[in-house]
Amino acid sequence: MEVAEVATKMAATSLGNPEGRVLRHMTKINKILEDDVANWAGRRVLVGGWVKTGREQGKGSFAFLEVNDGSCLANLQVICDAATHPLAELVPTGTSVLVEGELKPPPEGVKQRIELKVDRVLEVGPVGEKYPLPKTRLTLENLRDFMHLRARTNTISAVARIRDELAHATHAFFRQNGFRYIHTPILTTSDCEGAGEMFQATVLFSQAEKIAKELKENPPPSESDIEAAKLVVKEKGDIVAQLKSTKASKAEITGAVSELNRAKESVSRLEERYKLKPGIPTNPDGQFVFDSDFFKKPAFLTVSGQLQVETYACAIGSVYTFGPTFRAENSHTSRHLAEFWMVEPEMAFATLEDDMDYAEEYVKFMCQWLLDNSKGDMEFMVKNYDKTAIERLKLVASTPFARVSYTEAVEILMGVTEKKFENKVEWGIDLASEHERYLTEVIFKKPVIVYNYPKGIKAFYMRLNDDQKTVAAMDVLVPKVGELIGGSQREERIDILKQRILDQDLPLEIYEWYLDLRRYGSVKHSGFGLGFERMILFATGLDNIRDVIPFPRYPGRADL
Ligand code: 4AD
Ligand code: MG
Repeated sequence: MEVAEVATKMAATSLGNPEGRVLRHMTKINKILEDDVANWAGRRVLVGGWVKTGREQGKGSFAFLEVNDGSCLANLQVICDAATHPLAELVPTGTSVLVEGELKPPPEGVKQRIELKVDRVLEVGPVGEKYPLPKTRLTLENLRDFMHLRARTNTISAVARIRDELAHATHAFFRQNGFRYIHTPILTTSDCEGAGEMFQATVLFSQAEKIAKELKENPPPSESDIEAAKLVVKEKGDIVAQLKSTKASKAEITGAVSELNRAKESVSRLEERYKLKPGIPTNPDGQFVFDSDFFKKPAFLTVSGQLQVETYACAIGSVYTFGPTFRAENSHTSRHLAEFWMVEPEMAFATLEDDMDYAEEYVKFMCQWLLDNSKGDMEFMVKNYDKTAIERLKLVASTPFARVSYTEAVEILMGVTEKKFENKVEWGIDLASEHERYLTEVIFKKPVIVYNYPKGIKAFYMRLNDDQKTVAAMDVLVPKVGELIGGSQREERIDILKQRILDQDLPLEIYEWYLDLRRYGSVKHSGFGLGFERMILFATGLDNIRDVIPFPRYPGRADL
């Protein structure tokens, strides 16, 4: 029987009809492989995925395909006869297949638990040329050159599933605790951290390009062109005046007036074009002018949704935002991205203590969530990247975090003799990553929350403590990563807040709306920001933040 005939014959009883809905009839491979063989043996299923490896056997009479659909790490072993489909088209790595057949327990002594005997190949996406990903394992660094294909590898797909679980855990945690999810803007005109590390969002460049192109194709009028056009206006005006004085007919006068108007319009069009200048508009002092920009003022990609989410905290209580944030810092470290995701809860009537409690609970919750929901992927991380990854999750989920003030932390670090830090420790410094990691990895051997930092190294919105030297800030430091969370109680006293803005040389006008929150029904409130990718690094034990976000952006690199 021809392949097509078999397919037509089987279509009546089969699960997937290529003309109709397929997806709803498909079975995800994890459902099959993570269950008892007894529940699946003998069942017909429709499976779609990509061939990891394929080989022809029995002198080309059948083929074994290792098919992965991304639902889990494991592949389903698929067996297809040459009579069902030309095998040469199925076996190349990377081929996509949609196949149907019966699940069978493999013969005794074979590694696979259950395999699919295919009797119908519904769709094939062949690999025409050589598959770009080599079979030998590429380093994660080399894989970054295949941003569009790397999700097909075990590591990157495992990270994607872990990332997804952590996103779900985040929403579950905040929902359970009565928080509302608020979408804060990506485009903003306020600099939250006041650190001047913002990407500017502007149409001035594309506008300038358009004008330059336009002027090249259609050169601007000269002054004499305009003079000539003005002369025409004068002539047309004279005609109208003459017609009126000679009491010409109404129709004649109306005709002449419209000609005059057309001449005037032509002058103003020429004058407009005469003003067109290539380049970005500047004022006489050489500063850029934003009147013709999209928002008529400078706008940026947000570095944090905090300031905006505070407006909701000061109206509906406990809220959080979770979205992409952008920082144009020229950092080449394995802990920094130019685009990363941040989870930022903000709570009205909350003090620094409340803030630290929630931060700790939230991190613990995520660790427990992964232990409960990502067993296979976490075991993969343990086997391939970090032996202690699961132990770490267990430890963090069950042990209280250490808490020390900044002053205590500095004293501890100053007393360290067995290690020489690259950056000198003294009161007032911003703790460097080496200090943070020493505290959490060597001194406390667990997460530690450092609080009450010197005001000089922290953002303007953090609440000034009574000592006038420190602010009610807190950072959560974790092994492997260092700073995972940064947060604070916010300054709710308007006069002090104003002074802090001025002290940091920031323009008051931009923050008037933020000050209004303190003018009208001000309330003690607190919040924090968790770097989502840093949480994934911490959980997986991977070394580089560029491998835990689907499309990493860092200096010099923004693929796709
Ligand atoms: O400490 P940060 O700068 O705090 C804020 O932005 C506050 N507005 C948050 C708030 O209170 N709502 O950033 C928060 C966290 C850091 O602790 C770190 O985990 C992560 O964001 N982070 C980065 N992650 C990746 N790449 C970068 N360039 C990051 N910068 C900060
Ligand atoms: Mg910070």
